[in-house]
Amino acid sequence: MRKGAKPLFSFLRQSEKRDLAPFLTFLRKERMMSTQGLAWWQQTIAYEVYPKSFLDTRGQGTGTLAGITAKLDHLASLGVGALWLTPCYKSPMVDNGYDVQDYLQIDPSFGTMDDMDELIAQGRERGIRVVMDLVFNHTSDQCAWFVESRASRTNPKADWYIWRDAKSDGSAPTNWRSIFGGSAWEWCEERGQYYLHTFAKQQPDLNWENPQVREALYDISNYWVNKGVGGFRIDAITYIKKPPVFEDGPADGEDGLYPVHAATANQPGILDYLHEFKRAVRDGHDIFMVGEANGVAASELDQWVGANGVFDMLFEFSHMHVPMGAEEIWCRPATWTLTDLKRVLAQSQAATAHNGWYPAFFENHDQPRSTVNFFHDDGPLASKAKVLGAVLLTTRGTPFLYQGEELGYGNASWKRIEDFNDVQTRAQYEFALGEGLSEAAALAACVRFSRDNARTPLQWDDSPHAGFSTAEPWLRVHDDYATCNVAAQEADPDSPLLWYRALAALRAARPELVAGDWQELLADDERILAFERTLEGARCVTLANFSGEEATYDTSLVAGLVPLAASLGEPQAGTLRPLEAVVWGN
Ligand code: NOJ
Repeated sequence: MRKGAKPLFSFLRQSEKRDLAPFLTFLRKERMMSTQGLAWWQQTIAYEVYPKSFLDTRGQGTGTLAGITAKLDHLASLGVGALWLTPCYKSPMVDNGYDVQDYLQIDPSFGTMDDMDELIAQGRERGIRVVMDLVFNHTSDQCAWFVESRASRTNPKADWYIWRDAKSDGSAPTNWRSIFGGSAWEWCEERGQYYLHTFAKQQPDLNWENPQVREALYDISNYWVNKGVGGFRIDAITYIKKPPVFEDGPADGEDGLYPVHAATANQPGILDYLHEFKRAVRDGHDIFMVGEANGVAASELDQWVGANGVFDMLFEFSHMHVPMGAEEIWCRPATWTLTDLKRVLAQSQAATAHNGWYPAFFENHDQPRSTVNFFHDDGPLASKAKVLGAVLLTTRGTPFLYQGEELGYGNASWKRIEDFNDVQTRAQYEFALGEGLSEAAALAACVRFSRDNARTPLQWDDSPHAGFSTAEPWLRVHDDYATCNVAAQEADPDSPLLWYRALAALRAARPELVAGDWQELLADDERILAFERTLEGARCVTLANFSGEEATYDTSLVAGLVPLAASLGEPQAGTLRPLEAVVWGN
């Protein structure tokens, strides 16, 4: 064992696991002030909150900002230093806030601007900085800018959105299919023109070519910087620049349409806008920007992140596409094996090894619950969750947890299409029917991949509605809430929650897990995902058996190391039990 190192976290006892919170808060605050060559956001853990489903303090069935403030200690117990809040601006909520009506107001269903100020202030007390979600590819069709723009072809905001004339036969300008299904164009009677919507028809795309639009968006961002937020997650950013010529593409479905992202995503020149954005908002502030960049390949990352890039981190989705397929058409899932997943994770690590920084994630509000999605084998959800947690919290990059991930939820048990709320799920269902699938098969695709799986109310305890609300929740609570909830897991030494806390503490205590190099091990193994982290003589090895069978490996991999954390109790060098994860270190 390395001199001075202690197997502090081996087989943590229940009481030790519970008492980690003050230790983590101390470390988080230290880290925020420390330089150590890394910024605060590189050394912390981020946690995404979907406010509508987090905690309702008003008995209305939807979550509130005050609910998040009330539970900041839960986040602190997980070592969280950055709280990514999905949009809570004023919105008609067609896409649960990703259709913004006013970027400078809080939606009344979530509370007031005072509640937001309180959340920011209370977060800071605990070393947690709020990260806002900027939805700048589009607004709501109720946004004052769009209301003005649609009124005529000559008003001052006439070209703030993407307007085009109909084809000579009156049909839409192109055959592009919106990401949520159906044509990406919507007819506007007042102007006698179509407008483009990459997502729902209530989400018209902004025209970034117009410098006034860009200026307005930068001003909004700076309003939030001045409020003291810690950074931004920037939504759907690869779509902001449109191609110079709009033309039909080859149909890829029975609807005769062509995917809008194939026609418009990641256009040449997009980075010029984003460099301008960075100069106007990011430069000179101790904040971070993480872009949501579906469609950017790992090989292109160096233009997007790092010293010469535009963002600090970029969410790219290559690993999510392994089970789902790159086209994200749920009724056409991919077939895959563990080495496919390992290959893309290794590519992302390689791409950010010397430039930029990696935001590691398995879940977010747009994905089904990863415990179901990412494993081949049946087995206890808790074991699967712990395997994923071990990978996420010991890998290189800033881990982004999504609410409930720490409890190891599976997907929800939806029975009918009417059970779903999500606009995309309805569209995927219709698309599948259009492709000739039976209702049962179309439903099965939605059950597996729907975003609603991640949006069910957070399960706090076993009281009615899982302690989320005293009223009927907006989305049905997961059937397993009576046994899978925060209170129950606090009391269970073997729970995913206490495992995530222990790993967060391990990460905070071992600099190699934050700043160390990352090297893949056992690259060809179809059962074990393995890597090592090294820094100045310190070494940690993570071994995670993703299969439902025992898996063996050469003991030389862990020679001279001791187990620092083991998901199924006392581990044995050379063998992993089914769905077991062990972190070894010197
Ligand atoms: C990506 C967001 O994460 C998703 O929830 C939303 O529906 C689309 N962008 C449109 O804003």
